[in-house]
Amino acid sequence: MPKRRLFVTTALPYANANFHIGHMMEYIQADIWVRFQRLQGNEVHFVCADDAHGAPIMIAAEKAGKTPQQFVNTIAAGRAEYLEGFHIAFDNWHSTDAPENHELAQQIYKDLRDQGLTTNRSIEQFYDPVKGMFLPDRYIKGECPKCGAKDQYGDSCEVCGSVYSPLELKNPYSVLSGATPELRSSEHYFFKLSDPKVVMFLKEWTQSGKLQAEVAKKTSEWFAAGMNDWDISRDAPYFGIEIPDAPGKYFYVWLDAPVGYLASLKNHFDKGQAAHHPHEASRTQQTFEEFIADPSVEQIHFIGKDIVYFHTLFWPAMLEFSRRKTPSQVNVHGFLTVSGEKLSKSRGITLDPLKYLNLGMNPEWLRYYIAAKLNAKVEDLDFNPDDFLARVNSDLIGKYINIASRAAGFIHKKFEGRLDTSAQEKIDQGLGALSAQEVSATIAELFNKREYARAVRLICDFADQINQMFDAHKPWELARKEDLTSQTTLHEVCSAALRGFQYMSLWLKPILPKVAEQAEHFLNIPPLTWSLPLAPLTHIQTYQHLLQRVDAAMLDALFQAPQQEKIAPGGEDLAPEIKLEDFSKIDLRIAKILQCEAVEGSDKLLRLTLDIGEGKTRNVFSGIKAAYKPEELIGKSTVMIANLAPRKMKFGVSEGMVLAASHANEKAQPGLFLLEPHPGAVPGLRVR
Ligand code: MSP
Ligand code: ZN
Repeated sequence: MPKRRLFVTTALPYANANFHIGHMMEYIQADIWVRFQRLQGNEVHFVCADDAHGAPIMIAAEKAGKTPQQFVNTIAAGRAEYLEGFHIAFDNWHSTDAPENHELAQQIYKDLRDQGLTTNRSIEQFYDPVKGMFLPDRYIKGECPKCGAKDQYGDSCEVCGSVYSPLELKNPYSVLSGATPELRSSEHYFFKLSDPKVVMFLKEWTQSGKLQAEVAKKTSEWFAAGMNDWDISRDAPYFGIEIPDAPGKYFYVWLDAPVGYLASLKNHFDKGQAAHHPHEASRTQQTFEEFIADPSVEQIHFIGKDIVYFHTLFWPAMLEFSRRKTPSQVNVHGFLTVSGEKLSKSRGITLDPLKYLNLGMNPEWLRYYIAAKLNAKVEDLDFNPDDFLARVNSDLIGKYINIASRAAGFIHKKFEGRLDTSAQEKIDQGLGALSAQEVSATIAELFNKREYARAVRLICDFADQINQMFDAHKPWELARKEDLTSQTTLHEVCSAALRGFQYMSLWLKPILPKVAEQAEHFLNIPPLTWSLPLAPLTHIQTYQHLLQRVDAAMLDALFQAPQQEKIAPGGEDLAPEIKLEDFSKIDLRIAKILQCEAVEGSDKLLRLTLDIGEGKTRNVFSGIKAAYKPEELIGKSTVMIANLAPRKMKFGVSEGMVLAASHANEKAQPGLFLLEPHPGAVPGLRVR
């Protein structure tokens, strides 16, 4: 089979935040595929980059008091820890703000313009007169035009679900400044996606087997709804790439973002690293231009389900009509959920990848778990802690790892580490109906199709067969017998089991690169590749534990809410949580201060005579003398605890308490503020 030449990418993450577990899932999916292709001897260039541009990043940078460049650089500096931590082996990591991307994006635009596929016209848009900029839809809020709900975004209502244009919002305001936005017109640039030749190309391209069936179906629904031209420009100030011959105009971030795939690849080739990959050491140096011009090169994108539109319509059209290679596959995955819930930082639904690593959890557990659940469909994948523990401990360790540890003991004790080769041939011929070679071919096919879960299931089935074979011979009994037959059988059984382990190590190698490396060392073999038959095993090294089990306590720690940073409100820690019932035990009433006087012999207390509408008055002592003169308070209203047990004091009985705010340490920070209701609250009203 001719070797495939592959250019593989994952989506470029926005450079406004660190990775979340959803990113890691996408990278793990792609990394497994890439490692598998390399084991097959194929040439792979696997790249990614930070998606640096756009209004949200510009605004976040401003809030952080940084330039956009500084801001994205800080985020970029944090990437390696995650990628290395989970053994994600990109060949290159770049940025969409890099010079290669500026150049390529501008060139692609010019090529499209030369084809007559760009146009410009004036559009009306909301402008923030205080900020001095046009407002993206999500920076405009107002009342929903359909249901009247307040504080709804400029494009859709979270209350009634309706979708509208920001121009329809009632009482719109800028999220950035609070100002009422003004309608202003501005010249915008468009990519003519509605041009018949573009539509014709896309209709064909999307139905030509490059997309998953459900994705292709989705695109045909979009065509049915009609193609609009795509607005590709934004006005200054904007963090982005300038549009050639259009001063003050920048490419909308989604125009230059996918171009970043090419920019990162180019950077990779320009650095001279593309030919130095260990698996292609013999290749002569090639250039980016040569590589990408080779029609046999396949361009393969891994993305999530939320960015399909950009990758199956805009991006292929941009490439096709600028006379470039179009994607060979766009592989769309679903979203990762945690215990059935969508990731949400604000609601605390997260699985922090760095926390996972810092707790000493093994990255290969997660790689295995994700692989064991991933298929080639656009389905969400749930991380469930119990399921995670079961699959890693029972399947990965209980079935696969244990074979090595059980067989190795006997081989060392009884046979000085040497293995029987004829027993290994029996495994090659197969335990069931299929030879190991045939199983390998099936698993390879599944990896290639991204049906990882099915591949893992086959590997587990194979492990079951090996374990059954092993147990059926009761090697622990054979080991106690001295006769030759028993010893020979024991040698055969253990050698066969280790042969099975060798196969499984190859099959799992795309998923578990580090475990496979240790297995190769233990089995005394050169790095496993997908070329069969495998070299026979002759002798093994002493067995060292290859993989720890998951400890349930680690998962508890992983999902324990982070200790709240102790920035206590008002300098004082919050009291322990209470239930509503606890609060309702306290009867708070509006009280009118009928009388107020200093208490003789006390430098702290004032005596208050309060009316709470009971037809009698209450006598309350309050330590607010330092803050108020008695005459200031007479006639005012406040709030009192009306059901507090009366308290006998030196100066009389206090029949309740009035409410005032103060600092935790009144001596260090004086200041006392009696509560006062808004006008209209009459004595006796309950505060709840
Ligand atoms: N910057 C754009 C992509 C530009 S590609 C030229 C973007 N960035 S992102 O950071 O929001 O998302 C990056 C990738 O992560 C996307 O493929 C997205 O689908 C994926 N995921 C985001 N949340 C996810 C999950 N919860 N689960 C799995 N993948 C998720 O979009
Ligand atoms: Zn609404």
